[in-house]
Amino acid sequence: MSDTSTPQAVTVLGAGTMGAGIAQACAAAGHAVTLVDADEAALERGRAAIASSLARLVRKGTLDEAGAERVQAAVRTSHDRSAAVAAADVVIEAVTEDLDVKRALWGEIGAHAAPGALLATNTSSLSVTEISGFGGHAERTCGLHFFNPVPVLPLVEVVRGERTSDATTRRAVDFATGLGKTPIVCRDTPGFIVNRLLIPYVNDAVHALAEGVAEAADIDAAMTLGANLPLGPLALADLIGLDVTLAAIESLHRETGDGRFRPAPLLRRMVRAGKLGRKTGEGFHRYA
Ligand SMILES: NC(=O)c1ccc[n+]([C@@H]2O[C@H](COP(=O)([O-])OP(=O)(O)OC[C@H]3O[C@@H](n4cnc5c(N)ncnc54)[C@H](O)[C@@H]3O)[C@@H](O)[C@H]2O)c1
Repeated sequence: MSDTSTPQAVTVLGAGTMGAGIAQACAAAGHAVTLVDADEAALERGRAAIASSLARLVRKGTLDEAGAERVQAAVRTSHDRSAAVAAADVVIEAVTEDLDVKRALWGEIGAHAAPGALLATNTSSLSVTEISGFGGHAERTCGLHFFNPVPVLPLVEVVRGERTSDATTRRAVDFATGLGKTPIVCRDTPGFIVNRLLIPYVNDAVHALAEGVAEAADIDAAMTLGANLPLGPLALADLIGLDVTLAAIESLHRETGDGRFRPAPLLRRMVRAGKLGRKTGEGFHRYA
């Protein structure tokens, strides 16, 4: 088992929103990171995202220039998936949330991973147990569910698949701790902890809006002023993305069959209309 402070070879598969953030956090903790993506442009965007995140930290005074350069230099990019997987002590999969894409990739991970490597998926809504079966090393596979933006948010949900071993769970907890994160272990259940509680709340706010309880701005203001939350639920949906919110509540509904998780029809209508929140300039609120 690795010491939390020992630098390790970490391969992050997928250089999107999450992969780039995870790569940055691992590099900042002193690990040697290889960031891989199937798409050349995505790899470039991932590098650029890390550079701009580091620049922001320098501007805020949380990191100096030399530190930023060290982190950037600790992330190398590669297209050679099998070589990058084979060379890793820790593999973190953060590719597109699509079971078929993950199935194919985990077949490759299983075939090439070094004996003893820790294998993790960052999935938000798919079953860690199911994914762990695709690679054939279920006992050393777990979920490491980071939150966006990864360099900022302290939580990592360490998700135990049904066949994840105790040693793997401990190692994942140690690894997350070594990144300066706060790991919380949970079972492989739909939504894990945060999304299981947060997404139905947001969905319920959309039901309330559709029922005419109050205007969107007033629902949000009520929850910030009365419940002391930093953001109202509809503004939060706009931030997460209405498409992502809908996919998450659909997944909870599908997995549990529980009517409590029935997607709000208004949410579905807005997604169909392309009103996805901040990223399209309009959701429950308008953005310049
Ligand atoms: N976005 C979030 O807020 C968030 C939060 C927590 C977890 N997640 C999870 O993280 C994962 C990634 O989400 P994201 O938002 O970063 O997605 P994204 O669309 O920004 O990035 C996914 C990347 O994976 C790449 N990819 C697809 N197939 C690949 C393959 N076979 N090999 C290598 N690269 C491949 C794509 O080119 C893309 O660059 C998903 O499982 C998602 O559920 C997302």
